[in-house]
Amino acid sequence: MSNIQITNLTKKFDTNEGLLAVIDDVSFDVGQGEFVCLLGPSGAGKSVTLNCIAGLLDATYGEIRVDGVSVADKKPNYGYIFQQPRLIPWRTVEQNLSFALRAETGRPVPNEKRRIADILELMSLTGYEKFYIHQISGGMQSRVSIARSYIRNPDLLLMDEPFGALDEMTARKLRSELVSTWMRDMRTVVFVTHDIVEACYLADRVLIYTPKPTRIAAVIDVDLPRPRTYGSDELHQIESQILAVFERSISQFTAESETVI
Ligand SMILES: Nc1ncnc2c1ncn2[C@@H]1O[C@H](COP(=O)(O)OP(=O)(O)OP(=O)(O)O)[C@@H](O)[C@H]1O
Ligand SMILES: [Mg+2]
Repeated sequence: MSNIQITNLTKKFDTNEGLLAVIDDVSFDVGQGEFVCLLGPSGAGKSVTLNCIAGLLDATYGEIRVDGVSVADKKPNYGYIFQQPRLIPWRTVEQNLSFALRAETGRPVPNEKRRIADILELMSLTGYEKFYIHQISGGMQSRVSIARSYIRNPDLLLMDEPFGALDEMTARKLRSELVSTWMRDMRTVVFVTHDIVEACYLADRVLIYTPKPTRIAAVIDVDLPRPRTYGSDELHQIESQILAVFERSISQFTAESETVI
């Protein structure tokens, strides 16, 4: 399983309005098999962080290493659930998954049919194998996208609000499946969310981002046994702690912006 070291990550974009500073000197590590949630306001740079870890975006300054190797030199072996499901619209559900399985060699892989059937069952998508992507609902597309990222058993899972478009009952079921597969396989997970309850349910550690240019406002350990219970006193206590940091970082940011103006 993978470990990640992020050192002094700074990301700026060249835009029509000039340089946009998004991430400002952020450093953190994710241990092998650790489950870390990134929580922060909209536009804080959470998706940009995942893209930098995946080597899809270059850091402006700083470095990201996965298993000791800079992602600028070699892309890590990851499964990525993008914020928008990026499925191939003119292919069926089954074809999207076999495409992901064959990504490395371009050839069929052993037990392909069985692996696809198993993952579709896990995602409650059995019976939709031959449906085209435009023929299934948005929530089902999210589940196909999750299935696609799980199917190759990657060492590292990058998940960008994977359950955000789902109804709460489906989201709870998939969170619970995610926790049990994670406890079995101990994959390293970096999971982006807006949802404090979700972060506390899932994470070993929650990193709270300030509004951009992003710094880390706080790191909160969630040292509770799993599976966790929604609404329990222990979880609620950590949720309140995170909410307080969130509110403080947003009001501090507003105060700083006012000073600049
Ligand atoms: N390719 C790009 N070019 C210019 N600016 C970009 C680019 N990608 C992202 N940004 C900017 O970086 C900032 C952070 O974007 P990002 O998508 O990481 O936010 P986020 O924290 O994931 O927000 P949300 O919770 O809404 O998904 C935004 O201001 C966005 O406009
Ligand atoms: Mg995002």
